[in-house]
Amino acid sequence: MAVRQRVFLKNPKLFVAPGGLNFEKHLRLHAQEKLRYFDEIARLTDDQRNMRTVTPGYIEGMTRRWMALYHGEIAAAQYMGTAAASMPFHDYFEFIACCICQQIDELSHAEMDRDMLQRAGFRLEDLPALWEECEAKVVFDHLLSLEDGFEIAFKGGFVLESANAVVGFHAMARFAEQHGDYLSAANHRTRLTDEPRHMALGMAVAKAMLADDPANIHILQQWQDEFAPLIYNFIHASRPIERIPGSHFSADAQWASIVEHHTKNALKLGLRPTLTL
Ligand SMILES: [Fe+2]
Ligand SMILES: [Fe+2]
Repeated sequence: MAVRQRVFLKNPKLFVAPGGLNFEKHLRLHAQEKLRYFDEIARLTDDQRNMRTVTPGYIEGMTRRWMALYHGEIAAAQYMGTAAASMPFHDYFEFIACCICQQIDELSHAEMDRDMLQRAGFRLEDLPALWEECEAKVVFDHLLSLEDGFEIAFKGGFVLESANAVVGFHAMARFAEQHGDYLSAANHRTRLTDEPRHMALGMAVAKAMLADDPANIHILQQWQDEFAPLIYNFIHASRPIERIPGSHFSADAQWASIVEHHTKNALKLGLRPTLTL
C-alpha cells in the first residue's frame, strides 16, 4: 500500500476549534445533554424502557441499522483517538482536544446503544456476527484504516456525520416513536446535539486547510471522492426498515435527502459534490 502524506498546516494556528470548544465547555454541554437523556428514560414505563411496546416486526426491521449505529459509534470513538494521536501535541492542542471531546461523545452513544440493544433482547456475544454481515461496516473499516488526523476528521465529520447523522437522526427519532420505541427515540435525540459538533470539526479542518493553502482543495476533493460513495451502504442497511408493518420509511427518500445535504455542504467549501441520485 502506498504511504500517504500526512497533512499538517504551515500555520497550525489557522485551525480554530468550532464554537470555541474546549474541555470545560464540553463538560457543561455533556452534563446538560446526557442528564436530560437519563431523566427522560427514567420517566418511561418499564414496558417502554424494555421495548415491549414496539410494533411487531420492528426489532427485526431495525436490526441492521442498529448494528451500523452501535458499531459506528465504537469505531468513531476509536478513530478519533487515532486522529488525536496522529498530531503533534504543541501545535495542535485545540484539534486534539476536539477529537478527545468527540471520543467521549461517541463512547457515550455506544454505551446508550449497547443498553438499548440489550433491552431489545440482543445478546452481546451475538453482535460481532451481525456486524460482519452489515453493509455499513465498510464505511467504518475505511475510517479505522486511516492515520492522518485531518483526513479522519474531514471524512468522518464533514462527509459522514453531516450526510448521514445530521439528516438521519430527526427522522429516526420520529419513526421510532411512531412504532412505540421511546427508548431509541430518546437516544437519537441526544445525538442531535452532539453530531453537529462533530460535523463542525470536519468543517473547521477543511477551512483551516484551505486558509493555509488554497491548493489543499484538491486533497479535500480526493478525500471526499474516495469516501463519500461508501455512504450508500447505509441505504442497504436501512432497506429492511421499509418492511416493518405500518412503515412509511423509504430508504431512497433518505438517500435523496443525504445527497441534497451533501451537495449543499460540498458547494459551501467549493468542492464538486461527489454523490448523486
Ligand atoms: Fe455518535
Ligand atoms: Fe459523531
